[in-house]
Amino acid sequence: MSSPTTGPVPYAGPSHADAGGDDQEPLQIDHNASHSDSDIDSAYESDEASRRTGSITSSIYHYEYENGRRYHAYRSGQYVLPNDDAEQERLDLQHHIWRLLLRGSLYTAPLQIPSEDDSPVGGHDADFRVLDLGCGTGIWAIDMADEHPAASVSGVDLSPIQPDWVPTNCAFHVDDYEDGWTYRDNESFDYIHGRALGGTVNDWARFYGQCRAHLKPGGWVEMQEYDAWIFSDDDSCDRAPWTMEWVNKLDEASRTFGKQINVANRHKQWMIDAGFVDVQEVVHRIPIGPWTKDEALKELGRFERVHMQMSVASHTPALFTRVHSYTPMQVQLLIEGVKREFRSKDLRLITIYRFIRGRKPTTDL
Ligand SMILES: C[S@@+](CC[C@H](N)C(=O)[O-])C[C@H]1O[C@@H](n2cnc3c(N)ncnc32)[C@H](O)[C@@H]1O
Repeated sequence: MSSPTTGPVPYAGPSHADAGGDDQEPLQIDHNASHSDSDIDSAYESDEASRRTGSITSSIYHYEYENGRRYHAYRSGQYVLPNDDAEQERLDLQHHIWRLLLRGSLYTAPLQIPSEDDSPVGGHDADFRVLDLGCGTGIWAIDMADEHPAASVSGVDLSPIQPDWVPTNCAFHVDDYEDGWTYRDNESFDYIHGRALGGTVNDWARFYGQCRAHLKPGGWVEMQEYDAWIFSDDDSCDRAPWTMEWVNKLDEASRTFGKQINVANRHKQWMIDAGFVDVQEVVHRIPIGPWTKDEALKELGRFERVHMQMSVASHTPALFTRVHSYTPMQVQLLIEGVKREFRSKDLRLITIYRFIRGRKPTTDL
């Protein structure tokens, strides 16, 4: 895995950042707020060239179809969630949930990103380098680049589903982060970010080893992950048989496939084992539905209920047909059963989201 062939340059547009604001009230996020026509003209450019001039040919766009869903073609079969419009909508909805949890921020690590004024004349050659692994639709990378014009943000994914028009300090690349990373010494990163990567990695020790090797001394790695499991504080799980069958079989299938999905609670130890220091984990519990009294959680719960219904529809078809030999009809029945329980007013189901971060020792060159 290597850097984009066209180097990103800093973006000169406005910032709507509230990054790092841990003590603030939850925000309503308007992702379009700072994207006026003039911004688009001056600060966005087409990133198509960086993807096309990479080592990858146009065959990456020859998607594969199965059970009515569309899947990636590059390294076909490696990743079991679809990449179609419905999945992209789910990822962008979940992006909103992640940001609500962080009260508008994009990360928890104490990053010291230079402001635009600190960047070299002309704003070029930004040296705060950010890598977004498994960037999906690119929404996190684009927001990060927008909000930090003096950073350069690279997004990597198996699927070329990111928009062509992106901030000039943002670039996307089709690549496989399970391969050996080939970034040169002068391409080390200040911050490596991954979100919702459960189920995408076979060997996490190797993954974190590569993160550490390609961070600058003192640089941060951060994973933002959800538990692929459902919880309750009362007997709701006992009264949600479809849901419990779903999470149990999903876990079993993903293990059989070789990339377990329900691993969010293991990242902290993995980071420690890989030699990261100052490792911290922040855990959030989100209700599925607006059944709590707390207003902020009520709002999160409303979004999470919609998100989880989309989530069961995207997580189920490939793994259950390929590993458990379900028929498409059985898959559909299971999906509908779980969605019905997520909508039930009688159940108080809970999901868990985690933010885990660690720093590469400053002595580790
Ligand atoms: C659940 S999505 C999360 C997307 C994004 N991080 C977000 O939070 O919106 C996981 C992403 O990882 C990508 N992915 C899976 N395995 C990968 C690999 N080995 N190399 C690069 N990308 C990968 C998938 O294509 C998918 O877009």
